[in-house]
Amino acid sequence: MKFYIETLGCQMNVNDSDKMAEFLVANGLTRCDDYADADMVIVNTCSVRFSAEHKAYSLLGRWKEIKDNKPNLVIGVTGCMAQYAAKEIKTRCKYVDFVLGAKDFEKFSKTVKRFLPKTNSSSLHPFTHSPDVFKYITIMRGCSNFCSYCIVPYVRGPEQSIDYNIILDEVKKAVNDGIKEIILLGQNVNSYSYNGVNFTGLLQKISALDNVTRIRFMTNHPKDLSDELIEEIAVNKKICRHIHLPLQSGSNDILKAMNRKYTYEQYETLYNKIKNKIPDINITSDIIIGFPGETDKDFEATFNASRKLQFGGLFIFKYSVRPNTPAAKMGNKVPLEIIKKRHTLLLEDSNIISKKINEKYIDNTIEVLVERYNAETKTAEARNSQNIKVFFDSDKDLTGQVVNVKITKVLPNSMSGKLQ
Ligand code: SAH
Ligand code: SF4
Ligand code: F3S
Repeated sequence: MKFYIETLGCQMNVNDSDKMAEFLVANGLTRCDDYADADMVIVNTCSVRFSAEHKAYSLLGRWKEIKDNKPNLVIGVTGCMAQYAAKEIKTRCKYVDFVLGAKDFEKFSKTVKRFLPKTNSSSLHPFTHSPDVFKYITIMRGCSNFCSYCIVPYVRGPEQSIDYNIILDEVKKAVNDGIKEIILLGQNVNSYSYNGVNFTGLLQKISALDNVTRIRFMTNHPKDLSDELIEEIAVNKKICRHIHLPLQSGSNDILKAMNRKYTYEQYETLYNKIKNKIPDINITSDIIIGFPGETDKDFEATFNASRKLQFGGLFIFKYSVRPNTPAAKMGNKVPLEIIKKRHTLLLEDSNIISKKINEKYIDNTIEVLVERYNAETKTAEARNSQNIKVFFDSDKDLTGQVVNVKITKVLPNSMSGKLQ
């Protein structure tokens, strides 16, 4: 029996999909890369924006056509959209066999058991797929920040820090399996707290483990990122030089309406402090365009913030109304035409900035960790400590190795060069 999982949304979902796959493989199923070959297909959904939900429904539509000719196909829907829209999914897509929300993720094994072939333990397959280079490890579930536009606290539940002993065991297992980079995940890792251990304490515990060489984490919240953490990153060379620090807007009126709990000025002070203490850091950010009530002046403040702060990379999202969030009930919605215009203006400008920042790497030889190799085109995909993608030609598969590359060309979100 073969299974296929389509993962939408953030790294939390990637992590959950990995766990589902691990369980299915342990129960004798094999993973396949094409859903047309599969006997069980699962879409792990996201509901952060309307577009993500739309993607899930169109995929389910395609799967229905397959099921019409292959009635035994098991179709499952998991994740964030399955959490709050289970009813709608079941009525719109009657052919779906199971729907399991993100909060009930622990019940996955129980839910799918009835669709699995009866096996005894002797027929269990070992986890066969080759070890990856990096591994996501969830250190917190849920979110309690309730930014007024965001659905995550409703679909993932309240913020919960995971016992650091469990995290440390997972890290140990990962490095034993040959994982080179650990990526810690939480909607706001800066507020991690378990039995008196905060996020800085957790980073110290993880870096003290044998064979841990590279640690990343995301996401940070400007209201909670502490001086202690900045200090730790500055002195701890195992921590990668990248901080994703979402600004969301450069206007104080909008930040207030978003319930972000900081002002632009506070953000700028924090940003400059990080840059001064960790000179080789790359700071990236998220922006939402067209939050209800965003005026030309508010947008100008965001545009100017982007110019002034010079982010290494900017993810710009068009505001999407999410059911039952406070922002959904706010008046003064911004017309889509204006959102599109502002989005293009900021995107074009921020791409020029990111490219200019990357240009400082031209002719420099930098260290990168190789993540993937394409044997057909003989190209490798790697990443530097600053989280910038680096492509280079290679005759050999160097996946998992740290190598030196001399940068010859840069784009806004990636670079390429020659293996040294
Ligand atoms: N917890 C993280 C990331 C949450 S989702 C954080 O707070 O930074 C990732 C990004 O999606 C957010 O940073 C935000 O920019 C964007 N986002 C969330 N809800 C959105 C909405 N309703 N419309 C448009 N973008 C949204
Ligand atoms: Fe959403 Fe805000 Fe929580 Fe991030 S911090 S997940 S934007 S509520
Ligand atoms: Fe992630 Fe989307 Fe859920 S961003 S937490 S998968 S709503």
